[in-house]
Amino acid sequence: MHGVPKPRTLLTLDSLSGEQIADLLDRAERLATLAPSARRERLIGRTLATVFFEPSTRTRISFQLAARRLGMDVVDLDVGTASISKGETDSDTLRTLAAMGVDVFVVRHRRDGALAALADSLPPDVALISAGEGRSQHPTQGLLDMLTLRQAKGRDFSRLTVTITGDIRHSRVARSDLHALRRLGCGNIRLCAPPTLLPDPDEFPECQRFEDFDSAVVGADALFMLRLQRERMTEGLVPSVEHYFRDYGLNAVRLARAAPDAVVMHPGPINRGVEIADEVADGPRAAILDQVRNGVAVRMAVLEWLLGVGAG
Ligand code: CP
Repeated sequence: MHGVPKPRTLLTLDSLSGEQIADLLDRAERLATLAPSARRERLIGRTLATVFFEPSTRTRISFQLAARRLGMDVVDLDVGTASISKGETDSDTLRTLAAMGVDVFVVRHRRDGALAALADSLPPDVALISAGEGRSQHPTQGLLDMLTLRQAKGRDFSRLTVTITGDIRHSRVARSDLHALRRLGCGNIRLCAPPTLLPDPDEFPECQRFEDFDSAVVGADALFMLRLQRERMTEGLVPSVEHYFRDYGLNAVRLARAAPDAVVMHPGPINRGVEIADEVADGPRAAILDQVRNGVAVRMAVLEWLLGVGAG
């Protein structure tokens, strides 16, 4: 991050170079190894607010823990009981909290484009981080996935084959992962899904596309599984959970077709018996809880970076 101006938002990974992404991952690893006493005053006096218009466990709690571990004050807006229910707009809500002294907002929103509009409405010294927006971006998930992959497979992504499987068409995680993988030089990216859940061919033209999961798994170094969003079944995009698991569920037999030391990742929450079998989710190749653990470290790094604190 040397010589890079302090940004005010992290809404997407699109504006980050491979070097900037790698620097953020390095910073996250350093912060993770610091003693609590060496961390807890780094952002003291700053305030973070989490504002989630969609449910979350991992992202919401890990941002709160990351901020507290760096000494920040943390407030959480319960959207269900806030004055939004009385008709206050999203932007008036955030500006009201900013007037109380919030320095950083972490916001999850269902609508693509909502966060850029919110950022524009905030005072220039207030930061905004996406905690997942529509189907377009989930930047800190992309970063923590890259850190987990790097810890499992080393820094040279050019020799890796990564297979991303599931509802790629509607996945903000897949879009952030794909951007980061390409920026970090990943050599071979495979996209696998039923035809109704594959993205448009012109969205990721450099990736190989598969409808047959058994073929997409062969020799892969990393298997990124995505959550099947159950509303896709009511939309008729998937015939049934049983069909989906039969054709696209990762079980031990399929995992045996991947590289012998393949790592299995999933952003969570997992649907056991839908996109992943228990034997794989709880098995030795799964890095799902490493992803969760890395989420706290990556979010500490992002908070320091946006607030212009700490060594690059
Ligand atoms: N991966 C992820 O975003 O999980 P949560 O919805 O629990 O935050």
